[in-house]
Amino acid sequence: MTITPLMPVYPRCGFRPVRGEGAWLISEDGRRALDFASGIAVNILGHGHPHLTKAIQDQAATLMHVSNLYGSPQGEKFAQRLVDTTFADTVFFTNSGAEAVECAIKTARAYHQSQGSERFEIITFKNAFHGRTMATISASNQEKMHKGFAPLLDGFKYVEFDDLEGAKAAIGPQTAGFLVEPIQGEGGVRPASDAFMKGLRDLADEHDLMLILDEVQCGVARTGALYAYELYGIKPDIMASAKGIGGGFPLGACLATEKAARGMVAGTHGSTYGGNPLAMAAGNAVWDIVANDEFLEHVGDIGGKLRSAIEQFIGNYPNLFTGIRGHGLMLGITMTDETRAFVAHLRDNHGLLTVAAGDNTLRVLPPLNIDESHISTFIEKLSAGAADYQGTDS
Ligand SMILES: Cc1ncc(COP(=O)(O)O)c(C=O)c1O
Repeated sequence: MTITPLMPVYPRCGFRPVRGEGAWLISEDGRRALDFASGIAVNILGHGHPHLTKAIQDQAATLMHVSNLYGSPQGEKFAQRLVDTTFADTVFFTNSGAEAVECAIKTARAYHQSQGSERFEIITFKNAFHGRTMATISASNQEKMHKGFAPLLDGFKYVEFDDLEGAKAAIGPQTAGFLVEPIQGEGGVRPASDAFMKGLRDLADEHDLMLILDEVQCGVARTGALYAYELYGIKPDIMASAKGIGGGFPLGACLATEKAARGMVAGTHGSTYGGNPLAMAAGNAVWDIVANDEFLEHVGDIGGKLRSAIEQFIGNYPNLFTGIRGHGLMLGITMTDETRAFVAHLRDNHGLLTVAAGDNTLRVLPPLNIDESHISTFIEKLSAGAADYQGTDS
């Protein structure tokens, strides 16, 4: 037998973390790496954050799991906090981002079908990433994710990202809504334009469509706003959140307005684990820390400093880097060439963790509670990595 016990769907690297301390990961063989990947935008409070850790420990010892058939004081508390701090009136808790997007798609279809309309089609955008379930791969045009899994689910139409005219032209009698990442993450940290997001909102209003945002990666304070839709001055009807919302505990949420959720009545959707007391303890602990102006200002401020430091640095390496984009602490450095090899070089030779994304983009996704000393260390490591990657041509 040659198959590994862990199903070999990931090309895993030789860095094997066994412990985390703040913004640092320590591997099995004792190497320390500065974690500017955060488990791909998950560990927003870094590793081993005392408030989050204690909340999980206390809840685990008190009550870990009960069925969603019972009343949930823990879930009600966190849902109320999400309702109080966002556009939403109601929340369904999931265990992952893909499940949150699944729930969002079902909510949009149910909105129309609960009033006798047959509308089911969702317009999505090229190079999007919405997860790995059948519905969420079907929602993306990326063929590499489809290969081997045909037939896809019916009901998705792909349009060029940031192309408002294309989105408008794609609306037909079966259209139920739009599904869009305000900032494409896997697609290369590509923020949608203001005009595009506002235009989608207007089109949705005009045609009675659901505007569904996938904020799984860009949400939960990552951009310096609690959710990225605030940066655009619009509100969605439905939104998927995950990753940072549990700070490392598997947790997602589908948020919706009362109007959008009118088809989601008793018996229409469910999850064994979604929103169990342990997950809610994690979510509430994250919210204690991030859902206030001081924390959000910190992210905006430190994000600005990190961006300026990167801008200054990349000017020294025009053969390697072409620019920077993103908001807050969701930054992408665009490269002239394939990014994966450089990410591996930084990891293996300089103890720096970043993530490759589409469009030759080096994603920089640090924990949100970093300080200026982390920025200095990051730039030192990045400089050393760039210098010995291509020789010193600066
Ligand atoms: C924008 C976006 N949506 C959905 C997902 C899927 O989340 P999960 O891997 O938790 O299912 C991801 C994960 O990278 C994502 O970035």
